[in-house]
Amino acid sequence: MKAIRTGATPSTLEALEFVDIDSPSEPGPGEITVALKASSLNFHDYAVVKGMIPAQQGRIPMSDGAGEVVAVGDGVTDYKVGDPVVSTFFPEWLDGGPPQTAFTRVPGDGIDGYARETVTAPTTWFTRVPHGYSAAEAATLTCAGLTAWRALFVDNAIKPGDTVLVQGSGGVSIFALQFAKAAGATVIATSSAGEKLERLKDLGADHLINYKEVEAWGAKALEITGGRGVDCVVEIGGAGTLDQSMMATRVGGHVALIGVLAGFAGPVQTALLMAKNLRVQGLTVGSRAQQLDMIAGIEANGIKPIISDTFELERLADAFRHQEANRHFGKIAVAI
Ligand SMILES: NC(=O)c1ccc[n+]([C@@H]2O[C@H](COP(=O)([O-])OP(=O)(O)OC[C@H]3O[C@@H](n4cnc5c(N)ncnc54)[C@H](OP(=O)(O)O)[C@@H]3O)[C@@H](O)[C@H]2O)c1
Repeated sequence: MKAIRTGATPSTLEALEFVDIDSPSEPGPGEITVALKASSLNFHDYAVVKGMIPAQQGRIPMSDGAGEVVAVGDGVTDYKVGDPVVSTFFPEWLDGGPPQTAFTRVPGDGIDGYARETVTAPTTWFTRVPHGYSAAEAATLTCAGLTAWRALFVDNAIKPGDTVLVQGSGGVSIFALQFAKAAGATVIATSSAGEKLERLKDLGADHLINYKEVEAWGAKALEITGGRGVDCVVEIGGAGTLDQSMMATRVGGHVALIGVLAGFAGPVQTALLMAKNLRVQGLTVGSRAQQLDMIAGIEANGIKPIISDTFELERLADAFRHQEANRHFGKIAVAI
């Protein structure tokens, strides 16, 4: 079967190899074999293939995988042949609090991922998909969808009337926008591009800020909320954006610290953090149980992911170049 593997370390997009590898074994007890039909790009996958995260040479990248069950092992009752399924980000984090294992068992990072045609794995490495979802749509949920869900509804309890600020128009942020609107919240969306801001407005964003033009966008968000501040910021920039996020947040509010797009480390205004009684909470995706809750929430609200581009598996490097050039809006899908 076909697969993509990373090249020598440190890796480059040019070093990604489209190769023939052995098909997986027949499913054992408690396992399923899945014919993968789609994946989707996350910044985390980009970091792996670019060698920003030290992954093993020859790693099959991509944390997201969706497809159809083609064989079931002994004792499997929760899936049958033909069922659509989608992968989970932490295969062994089924429920409860975050595990200690970090990324060592994350597909496409610590272990082989889903840039391949078929995989055999325990049933618990997958969940059902929302009704009516294509494989490409389902594949957007594993990382980006669940991260946004956890930020708003697991680590926080966003409710009608709250205000949520989302940064930029990437995968996590657009899911956060959609989930926040479904919960009845007011959304302030930022972007570096006027055309993308218009598209965010079409998706329901109530207030728009161009963060390139308005450097003090935290103060702008305060102004928009009449000086009160937002209840939650979905923080995907990290070090370079955290100060503005804390500025934007109301006293006692929540900053969901998710991303590193504006830096991995930097000074923090600890006095502001204290004075505003803020809760800045780091998070890494979520559990299998949270993924199932998200799927129920998606079905109840008829939410569909925004996919701006699709690339064939063979052209995965081009898909990453597209992401690198920031040409996407929402998710980039991979057809397998
Ligand atoms: N902790 C976790 O569990 C977790 C899970 C998923 C993702 N992440 C992290 O979250 C971040 C976003 O991931 P993603 O997959 O959604 O990425 P993505 O789809 O590639 O999104 C990139 C978008 O972010 C926006 N952006 C870039 N720099 C920005 C800045 N300084 N301020 C505001 N917006 C900025 C840009 O939007 P515009 O073009 O509109 O400006 C860009 O298009 C990454 O750092 C990723 O590693 C973390």
